[in-house]
Amino acid sequence: MKRLKQPLTITVANGKGGVGKSTIIRFLSYNLALKGYKTLVVDEDPQSNTTKTMLITKENHEEKEHYQINKTLMAGVRDGDLKPLITPIIDNLDMIPSHMDFKNLPTFLAKKYGIAESIDKNYHQIELKKVSFMRDLLEPIKQDYDFILIDTPPTTSVYTRSAVYASDYVILAFQTQSDSYDGALQFLENDMSDLIENFDADTDIIGVLPNQFTYHGAIDETVLADAVEKFGQQNIFEHIIPFAKRIQSAPRLGIRKDTYWDKKLFKDVIDPLTEDFLNRVEKVGGFEDE
Ligand SMILES: Nc1ncnc2c1ncn2[C@@H]1O[C@H](COP(=O)(O)OP(=O)(O)OP(=O)(O)O)[C@@H](O)[C@H]1O
Ligand SMILES: [Mg+2]
Repeated sequence: MKRLKQPLTITVANGKGGVGKSTIIRFLSYNLALKGYKTLVVDEDPQSNTTKTMLITKENHEEKEHYQINKTLMAGVRDGDLKPLITPIIDNLDMIPSHMDFKNLPTFLAKKYGIAESIDKNYHQIELKKVSFMRDLLEPIKQDYDFILIDTPPTTSVYTRSAVYASDYVILAFQTQSDSYDGALQFLENDMSDLIENFDADTDIIGVLPNQFTYHGAIDETVLADAVEKFGQQNIFEHIIPFAKRIQSAPRLGIRKDTYWDKKLFKDVIDPLTEDFLNRVEKVGGFEDE
């Protein structure tokens, strides 16, 4: 295990839903923890799907049932302190859980900082406060971790924008289907560029990650070729994620590595993905020199 120069916050992004953002975050965070990296998952999605999966993961490992969270994310944000929400999942892996009431975030931010359209004079000032709220809340926690991975809801919104603003790096993920690829491009061209150019966001793409790839699928191959041409082979994860039936059982069974099929999934897909990710961290100079 290598030492990080400083903690890194990462988000997985795409302007569209259902492309595998949460899947990537759940497996990657779990595997980074197994490899010894102190990892925190922040669920910024009010649907709370990642929260549910990670709580099942916790229950499996502790053989305890029905773990209850005692403070909601909205309450934590309101209090300006996320520490009381930190929930241990497995060794080296913690989570800040989401809850349905986090759907009130836009209203909360509007009440606190005001409302402005991009044509309004005070837009920049108000929007900057809104997009930076998560970065500020994570600041006092960040030093306790090597990696912080933020999960976001579909569609671009203050959820995604605040996650990207808080992140050192973004994994640009898409399903190898046209709509999903377009969603990735739109996110890059509209949201990410806007945050970097107009709000000085200190963030960058660490890699482009195609997901749910079907070998010999005509559309899959075409979309992948488009991505290679657009981003360059070196910017695309070496081990793209294939369509894997076993991945779909994670929401119900939790993330686990104790059965034949799970071990196989890790060996074939999750371990190469994690190695690839860590190589990319190395490439951007994220690790201390040995
Ligand atoms: N590589 C894969 N192979 C098979 N199924 C997959 C794969 N990746 C994701 N899925 C399935 O696709 C569905 C959507 O994935 P996921 O929830 O991770 O997407 P998402 O981008 O987080 O969605 P949302 O935008 O709604 O949060 C899930 O049912 C998941 O199990
Ligand atoms: Mg999701």
